[in-house]
Amino acid sequence: MIPDDQVDEVRARADIVQVIGDLVPLKKSGKDYKACCPFHDEKTPSFYVVPAKGFYKCFGCGESGDVFAFLMKRHGLSFVDAVKHVAASSGVEIREVNRGQTGEDPFRYLYEANAFARMFFQDSLWDEATGGPATAYLEERGIDRDTAERFGLGYAPDAWRGLHEAASHHGIGEEVLIEVGLVTRSEKRKDPYDRFRGRLTFPIENLSGKVVGFGGRVLGVGREGSPKYVNSPESPIYHKGGILYGLSWAKNTIRRQGTALMVEGYMDVVSLAAAGFENTVAPLGTAVTSDQVVLLRRFASRAHLLFDSDAAGLKATFRAADLLLAGGVHPCVVTLPTGEDPDSIVHSEGAEALQSHIDGAVDVLDRKIQILEEHDHFKSIEHTRTAIDRLLPTLRAVQDPTLRDIYIKKVSDRTGVRRDTLEAELARVVAPPLQPQVVRRRDRRRPAARTTPEMGPERELLLLMTKDRDWIERVGERLGPKDFLDVRYRAVFESLLADHELTHPPEEMVPEAARVLEKLLADPAELGRAHRVFEESSSKILSTLLQERLDAVDHLLQNTSDEQQETQLLLEKARLSKERRDLGQDWSPTVRRAIKDNHL
Ligand code: GTP
Ligand code: MN
Repeated sequence: MIPDDQVDEVRARADIVQVIGDLVPLKKSGKDYKACCPFHDEKTPSFYVVPAKGFYKCFGCGESGDVFAFLMKRHGLSFVDAVKHVAASSGVEIREVNRGQTGEDPFRYLYEANAFARMFFQDSLWDEATGGPATAYLEERGIDRDTAERFGLGYAPDAWRGLHEAASHHGIGEEVLIEVGLVTRSEKRKDPYDRFRGRLTFPIENLSGKVVGFGGRVLGVGREGSPKYVNSPESPIYHKGGILYGLSWAKNTIRRQGTALMVEGYMDVVSLAAAGFENTVAPLGTAVTSDQVVLLRRFASRAHLLFDSDAAGLKATFRAADLLLAGGVHPCVVTLPTGEDPDSIVHSEGAEALQSHIDGAVDVLDRKIQILEEHDHFKSIEHTRTAIDRLLPTLRAVQDPTLRDIYIKKVSDRTGVRRDTLEAELARVVAPPLQPQVVRRRDRRRPAARTTPEMGPERELLLLMTKDRDWIERVGERLGPKDFLDVRYRAVFESLLADHELTHPPEEMVPEAARVLEKLLADPAELGRAHRVFEESSSKILSTLLQERLDAVDHLLQNTSDEQQETQLLLEKARLSKERRDLGQDWSPTVRRAIKDNHL
């Protein structure tokens, strides 16, 4: 059984044009779409899909219904299967299906290790013998005990094997601690040791409240050379691009208020909660991802962005805003005084001051126009041209048709460019991305190596990861070992994820992979634009994989006469197509430009 409210949610979130369009070739017709009816034979289209109302209707045979009815009638799915299929393809997570009947979670042992760690860290925070400096630090940051307990904050003792030993006594093995990233190994220090030491710990929860990872902040400024934050690595239960910090606590308030406050980090979330702002979330140390937008979209149709007001913060703001618009969430920008973040404002000026900044939030397009005005962008023709170029990504990103209309009108009014000219610009196909670049030093002794398969995207990414270790996490976020088809590259990838500082192949590595790794480490190549290498290569790997699977499904489809199987295959095809579309969307020109553009 799927509870009614969830069915309603899935229906509301579903994109009926996409679901039906994956199975029937739809043509746009005004605000609606039409096709030859899949339920009866016809030569001229009388089958309509009406996205605004979420239904389809055939004026020839009278068939009609919502997105679920379509899948049931066309493919003989049960109601529950139809809902599940649509939920999966529109990013809605269905909870509480068939209670008791679902199998055991295969990663329960990892959740248990994290649950133990949360308890251990919490105990050591509130134990006066160990937690003194950490509680003092919390007090200094204005975080009361209630709030700290609500977020499960803790303190990781400043010892190499504090958690490790406590967990062992509790029967949690070293391998498990390593797999979930609580314990780590390095070249320098052969004995596995606690990742979080002498830090305030922030448990990161998934939506159902299970701890999937931790962030750890140094107390105060910390030791010279140690990073302010240490975070859990990606693991089978933790994909930071798919989680918003704070959402498990904030989701009900967000739903009630219809908007989320999106801030930059852990401290902002916790300190805003302490000041009474209960609808706050943050990405986890990386730029906002489209998965996070899909997640947020389940609870709110609006978001207030409260990032830093410096150039980097502004860039992050507009990048996040375009993703939000593309995901159907309406972003507003809160502008904070330079040098401040939300936490520093509540701390120095109080909650009312922050509230008044929030009340002064402006729609993202308005904010862009404001900034362009501040830079005199509407005073001359050439400037207006660049202004429009900066506004177009946002116009392209917006999905909601009404909002899109409003935006186009705004830009038209402000720039004096006619609406249909803007529409034509928007319809223009954006040039395809350039090839990934690894700029090589000229090396006459190693000629003509570029056509070997070694120059493929897999190697390119690994080269990026070995040259600039900061990229390891980013790549690990986007790809898993299985996405590397070459087993040697796969092994190298895994070893880099396991040890970011790796300088030699680990002993247990198979010789073929070890040779590849040694070559990578010794490669004199200079990286061109790292960001581009990352985007292009990872997208290429993913789209190749998807294309292969799509081809396989097509092949099977052509050779099956079994209706049941055909249905399954069509659903699989729709799912893969959706994935491929999302891939395109994640790295769309919109986003790419937003990243590239200096301010906007
Ligand atoms: P405070 O300085 O305590 O106010 O924390 P903050 O959350 O405001 O930190 P900041 O604005 O500097 O950083 C925002 C987010 O970026 C943090 O929450 C982290 O997720 C991430 N971050 C900041 N510094 C580091 C770092 O040194 N390493 C890593 N991995 N992430 C960091
Ligand atoms: Mn801060």
